[in-house]
Amino acid sequence: MVHGRHRIALGLLLALLAPGCGSKAKPEAEAPDGPPRLLVLSSQIGYIEPCGCTVDLLLGGIARIATLVEAERAKGPTAVLVVGPHLFEKAPPEDRVAQEEAKARLIGRSLQAIGVDAVVPTAAELVRGRAFYEAVRGDFTAPDVTVNVAGGEGRLLTLGDLKVGVFGLAAAGAEVPGGAASDPQAAAEAEAARLRAEGAHVVAALGAMPKRDLRRLARQVGAVDLWILGDHPEELDVVSPAGEGYLIEAGDRGRNLGRVVLLDAAQAGKLTDPAGDAARARKALELQLQMRTSMYQRTQDPALEPAIAELKAKLADLDYAAGKGKRLEYDLIPVTKGTVPRPDVAAEVAAYQETLKKLSLAADSTPPPVPEGKSGYAGSAACLDCHEEAHVVWKGTPHGKAWQTLVDANKTFDPYCVSCHVTGWQQPGGAVLGNNEMLRDVGCESCHGPGARHVEVGGDEYWTKRKVPETVCRTCHNAHHSPKFDYATYLPKILGPGHQALKD
Ligand code: HEC
Ligand code: HEC
Ligand code: HEC
Ligand code: HEC
Repeated sequence: MVHGRHRIALGLLLALLAPGCGSKAKPEAEAPDGPPRLLVLSSQIGYIEPCGCTVDLLLGGIARIATLVEAERAKGPTAVLVVGPHLFEKAPPEDRVAQEEAKARLIGRSLQAIGVDAVVPTAAELVRGRAFYEAVRGDFTAPDVTVNVAGGEGRLLTLGDLKVGVFGLAAAGAEVPGGAASDPQAAAEAEAARLRAEGAHVVAALGAMPKRDLRRLARQVGAVDLWILGDHPEELDVVSPAGEGYLIEAGDRGRNLGRVVLLDAAQAGKLTDPAGDAARARKALELQLQMRTSMYQRTQDPALEPAIAELKAKLADLDYAAGKGKRLEYDLIPVTKGTVPRPDVAAEVAAYQETLKKLSLAADSTPPPVPEGKSGYAGSAACLDCHEEAHVVWKGTPHGKAWQTLVDANKTFDPYCVSCHVTGWQQPGGAVLGNNEMLRDVGCESCHGPGARHVEVGGDEYWTKRKVPETVCRTCHNAHHSPKFDYATYLPKILGPGHQALKD
């Protein structure tokens, strides 16, 4: 379905954003004449903005997604498909419930503003209960197309001349918003057949289930062109063959939109992927060539020479001529920092930040009490007197300015961010949201443990820990916020003259 709602209001913005379409992007222009396209937003898992913790993590942002969707709509008839956990990743801890619920409401409203044609929710949508989910759905009205639940039904979308059948599959046995999920195979076979009978030229199945289960289904169920993974999809800019069709993995956290452009697709026959086929053929040839060449380098066996020459010739001959017939083109549209956020959605996000500030101010500002015989936190300033050199080294590392990073990002009130950019988060005597002045930054005690008693008694080693095992680093340097973390290469960067690893 083509959503025209925002095109008029945003005509001007689009003319600026999509120079290629500028000539025909007049507000009242007729429908764009490019080929139909499907945009896939998989596994959003509660993300509205990138955290920016590393260069890798700059992609994403729901308001930027809105802009990119509009730009696609200006090119051709467009359907937006949402699959996999989108409101939550998992049940939030008790102290973040209010924040996570406000964020889920925001995601619902943002998806509504974007205009979604089909959604396949998961059990994760229900972690705050059915009543909460229903409240979100009051704002977000896109049809749930899950078919392996009681009364479930897919949709036939009309994209220009093309009819695209879409339906969703929940993991067998999962308790999803539509009810308890039954056997996906029987439901998929029946729905694919029904959609074909109603005239679908292309059929897409959105699978909110583990990859191996979806792949198995693809082998069992014919008559589906596209299998779109919603549960832990990798970020792949090519499709891979699956059953009689192709598997799509567009990644998670709203870092990319998967884009399937459908060309000459309103005809009978199999949907093909010529560019992908050529890339796969090239890869296979390159692998063979690599193997032979390295064998040749080792053995200098002249008998290998003809084979190598032949492979090189084949590679040079690979035909990249534009495909013909019923075919797809697939790629990922990265949600980059350079994309201007769509103003209405950006305003919703800003309003959420204000809500968050209020929630934070109202939050409990007392850390858990320090048990008898244990130590609380003293703060890095208290270590300066006796460990001046170590303090200088520390201050020169990013740990010594981790709070300023949040000040710059205007996130000092977001408990999620604060948790890793302060010392002793929610530990006995440690930092909490409204009470952390002495414990800002990743201080000494983040690594050496709470040191108030060590300070009090004038430096008894019993009350601090010298060794800092990798597991301590990993509490913050996790896969989501520090994907390149490697203990051996990161450790030397936080040490230096006056703050060193000592021999035992
Ligand atoms: C699980 C812990 C964790 C959470 C949660 C977290 N961060 Fe970080 N952040 C890190 C770590 C670790 C690094 C350093 C990553 C690296 O270089 O490998 C970092 C780095 C950064 C940087 C880059 C600083 C620079 O100068 O390069 C920014 C910006 C940042 N975080 C902002 C945020 C914001 C905003 C949030 C909340 C949305 C957040 N962080 C949540 C752990 C976290
Ligand atoms: C009053 C002085 C004093 C203060 C304040 C102090 N320390 Fe120490 N610290 C010492 C002394 C003395 C030692 C003994 C080790 C040595 O240098 O031989 C020591 C040793 C250590 C060690 C090494 C322990 C070991 O097993 O070798 C660490 C780690 C440490 N301190 C961390 C801290 C931290 C973190 C703070 C701030 C919370 C702090 N210290 C504050 C005096 C102090
Ligand atoms: C309490 C959370 C926390 C712990 C524990 C922690 N870090 Fe960090 N680390 C951070 C944050 C946050 C940043 C980013 C600071 C900034 O720039 O705002 C960071 C940044 C770094 C950087 C700089 C990376 C860069 O891109 O330049 C290195 C190196 C580093 N940490 C190493 C370590 C090592 C090694 C350990 C364990 C011995 C460790 N960290 C433990 C939170 C932590
Ligand atoms: C990111 C983790 C981290 C932070 C933050 C950190 N240290 Fe360390 N510190 C280490 C590691 C790792 C060692 C080496 C331990 C070993 O000997 O294996 C060390 C060693 C030490 C030692 C013993 C060696 C020496 O050179 O005297 C002291 C004392 C010390 N740190 C104090 C501090 C103080 C004070 C601060 C804050 C100003 C601080 N550290 C911040 C990780 C950290």
